[in-house]
Amino acid sequence: MILDLKDINTVDRQHYLQHVIAPRPICFASTIDKAGNVNLSPFSFFNLFSTNPPIVIFSPSRRVRNNTTKHTLQNVEEVPEVVINMVTYDMIQQVSLTSCEYPKEVNEFIKAGFTEDPATLIKPPMVKESKVKMECRVIEIKSLGTEGGAGNLVICEVLRMHIDDSLLEAQSKKIDQRKIHQVARLGADWYCVVNENNLFHVQKPNTELGIGVDALPESIRNSKILTGNNLGQLANVNEMPFIEPSFDDSHLKQIIQYFSIDPDEMEKELHIHAKKLLDEGKVREAWQVLLASN
Ligand SMILES: Cc1cc2nc3c(=O)[nH]c(=O)nc-3n(C[C@H](O)[C@H](O)[C@H](O)COP(=O)(O)O)c2cc1C
Repeated sequence: MILDLKDINTVDRQHYLQHVIAPRPICFASTIDKAGNVNLSPFSFFNLFSTNPPIVIFSPSRRVRNNTTKHTLQNVEEVPEVVINMVTYDMIQQVSLTSCEYPKEVNEFIKAGFTEDPATLIKPPMVKESKVKMECRVIEIKSLGTEGGAGNLVICEVLRMHIDDSLLEAQSKKIDQRKIHQVARLGADWYCVVNENNLFHVQKPNTELGIGVDALPESIRNSKILTGNNLGQLANVNEMPFIEPSFDDSHLKQIIQYFSIDPDEMEKELHIHAKKLLDEGKVREAWQVLLASN
């Protein structure tokens, strides 16, 4: 299917875009108006855009139904400050409740059962139950249109972060990614949670260049066993590895012993073994296995 966005209605656009551009982190925004009314609402059109200066952006849209604007937007237009509270799994049902369209004077902290904690630099309160809160100054609001569904970019400078000690590694005081359990929004009412079952490492290409998939030997590049991910791992080395005479692998020895009379079968078995090693993150070992067939 090919979709031209100009040919479909806003509800369908929302459907296709929000299911595809996912998961999106959730900005749980606490704002205040000039009269002191507090508002608390979630926004998944949200991300980090710069670290120096530290800039995050979220977007309260004009309602598709009646083209009205959200209280959060009205508040930051009056008082350009916001606390962005990060949403973790243990809060998500209460967070969802705050997205009800309560009247402006209703404080969603109370409706959803969250506790106000005074911020230190700005007026809107922080959500005590959130494990990371960011006190932000709104530096610009950019409207993206006048029709229902149009976003309004609320560009925020993060002034101060409050990070729960339970998220930190004891020595380094850096955040342990495994401990946050953020929740993210996908399409419709789908959400996902970050936990150890879905976290994995991808080795960062460093300042040295990876050799690239185009530099892999043809038999590896055209392998029917190795996947695109496997080729990406192999191509991330800085130079073509050499055979290490000291490399010792009993399964490799067996393959060479049993299949040396049939080179095609041997290559297949070597690729199966290399794939297993790559899937375990053992790139050096996988290269040694693959080099054995060349
Ligand atoms: C998880 C979640 C994410 C949401 N993300 C957005 C968003 O990015 N933009 C938006 O306009 N509304 C979003 N909404 C809906 C608003 O939270 C909802 O319209 C809310 O009532 C706005 O409150 P306000 O008028 O008090 O500011 C989201 C709702 C939920 C539950």
